[in-house]
Amino acid sequence: MCGIVGYTGSKNAKDIVIEGLYTLEYRGYDSAGIALGGNKISVTKTSGRVSELESKMKESDSTIGIGHTRWATHGGPTTRNAHPHLSFNNKIAIVHNGIIENCDLLKKEVMSHGIVFNSDTDSEIIAHLVAMEDQSDMVQAIENVAAKIEGAANFLVIREGDNNIYCHKKNAALNIGIGEDGNYVASDMLALAKHTKKGIVLSDDETAVLTPTEVKVYKDGKEIKKDIIDINCKEPKVCPCYMQAEIEEIPDALLNTYDSFYKSIKQECIAKAVSAERIAIVACGTAYHAGLYGKEVIETIANIPVDVFIGSEYDRARFINDKTFAIFISQSGETADTLAAVNRSKSLGATTLAITNVANSSITFISDYSLILEAGPEIAVAATKSYNSQLLMLYLFANSLAGKVVTRDVIENVATQANMLLSHSIFTESIAKDNLFFIGKGIDELSAMEGALKFKEITYKMAEAYASGELKHGTIALMDPNCTVIALATNEDYKQKITVSVSEIKARKAKTIGISAIGEIGCDISLFLPKLEDVLLYPLLSIIPMQLLALSTSNYLGINPDKPRNLAKSVTVV
Ligand code: F6R
Repeated sequence: MCGIVGYTGSKNAKDIVIEGLYTLEYRGYDSAGIALGGNKISVTKTSGRVSELESKMKESDSTIGIGHTRWATHGGPTTRNAHPHLSFNNKIAIVHNGIIENCDLLKKEVMSHGIVFNSDTDSEIIAHLVAMEDQSDMVQAIENVAAKIEGAANFLVIREGDNNIYCHKKNAALNIGIGEDGNYVASDMLALAKHTKKGIVLSDDETAVLTPTEVKVYKDGKEIKKDIIDINCKEPKVCPCYMQAEIEEIPDALLNTYDSFYKSIKQECIAKAVSAERIAIVACGTAYHAGLYGKEVIETIANIPVDVFIGSEYDRARFINDKTFAIFISQSGETADTLAAVNRSKSLGATTLAITNVANSSITFISDYSLILEAGPEIAVAATKSYNSQLLMLYLFANSLAGKVVTRDVIENVATQANMLLSHSIFTESIAKDNLFFIGKGIDELSAMEGALKFKEITYKMAEAYASGELKHGTIALMDPNCTVIALATNEDYKQKITVSVSEIKARKAKTIGISAIGEIGCDISLFLPKLEDVLLYPLLSIIPMQLLALSTSNYLGINPDKPRNLAKSVTVV
């Protein structure tokens, strides 16, 4: 999703901003641009990649600049719609992350002054509105503009002949880096980590002024004191395929998550969850699938009722109150739908726990408690290792709710088995052509859902997940020789049932591939999972062959699995 970066100091701004944009590429984008300040603002934009932007740029000795990667919402992914946008008098340049909900109204107001728009975006409004304000007090000007905007308004402003960057935060993350040779701002800590370890996390409705030598933060016109935090995120290593590397990191990620849980879980948090009337879990996409697993393990191990909600549907969740313990799962900690759900839960009196991979992400600041996965940076857009770590975190949490401690050797064994699975493939060329189904019963259905999502995201092919016993109620009509069905079987209790489902599918001449921990279930080919102590731990392993299958198919189809079309790593709009 949109990424913002800015720098003012004594170094070359172009180099720093371009480098920042490269770091933000993984969030997903379709166009990019930079504005360099000085006596005259110069803007360069492209509807392509950051590398194209870099090659389009002329040499510059400017020491102030702002940059943006855009994920189109209002207006197509064209150069004209790429940020930065200039004001009508060319004296103000802005970059924006978010959606201006009252954009039609504001656009009319701006146009009534005879101002002509140069893009189809909502964001351009900000440049004109700032330029229309009295420029003698820029903090006031920014606050006035922000007050007019309904919706998400994270933006940076630079002015002709001014070495300051003016930043406003509302909704998505905006972080400041305090450096030796200047000050930095970015929507992602990763873009700051190369330059400094000292940072400030802005909260909603705050405005920051970055001069080349100092940073001041304001709220409601008054300067406020902010904590200086340690930017402790690990820099991602450069590698040719992040998704591959991240799947290979699953064994280490699991052990890190195990250590992180027992290091940081608070007894007070466990006590609140145990005494709650109900637990609600909220998340989106892959994290939602982890949430479904959370319900299974919490209800099975700790005997507490759990409801699971998709983030964007949480506005209709009922019975959320001060007797609710709400868990929010988000790899990035920045997903707007999930953050909105945290805020709603808090306003209704619930206790909130965030499970995230990113320390100091927005979700950690607004939740009562946080558990950090410590899976290491996840750069590939499709979530892999963070999912395995989310499952483990929920498993450990469920055990703690039941007063049980999971010993490290149990998870070391899972990590060892995960490592062995990395060298097994269920890919066949026909999978890349066939309609694909992932089926399972019980907890295996949840893994099937994640397997299908991974496959769709990076192969652009249809794949569906189904409860195996439900196929015969309709979907079996689709079974023919052009179908491949991946059947998951990790629970001995369901052996009979899944074996029957497989034979029904085979009778319709579809191809079958088994991922089984319970021996033969009658599939054409099978991958057998090693024995684990607890059947509830199998989803940590069974997903790996499906992650690898999606990756191999993506590679076979010539798709870049790290940057699938239309997707963003952090979905910061609702
Ligand atoms: C799938 C994927 C998305 C995310 C979803 C939530 O591979 O990456 O479905 O899981 O957008 O993102 P987070 O976990 O960052 O809240």
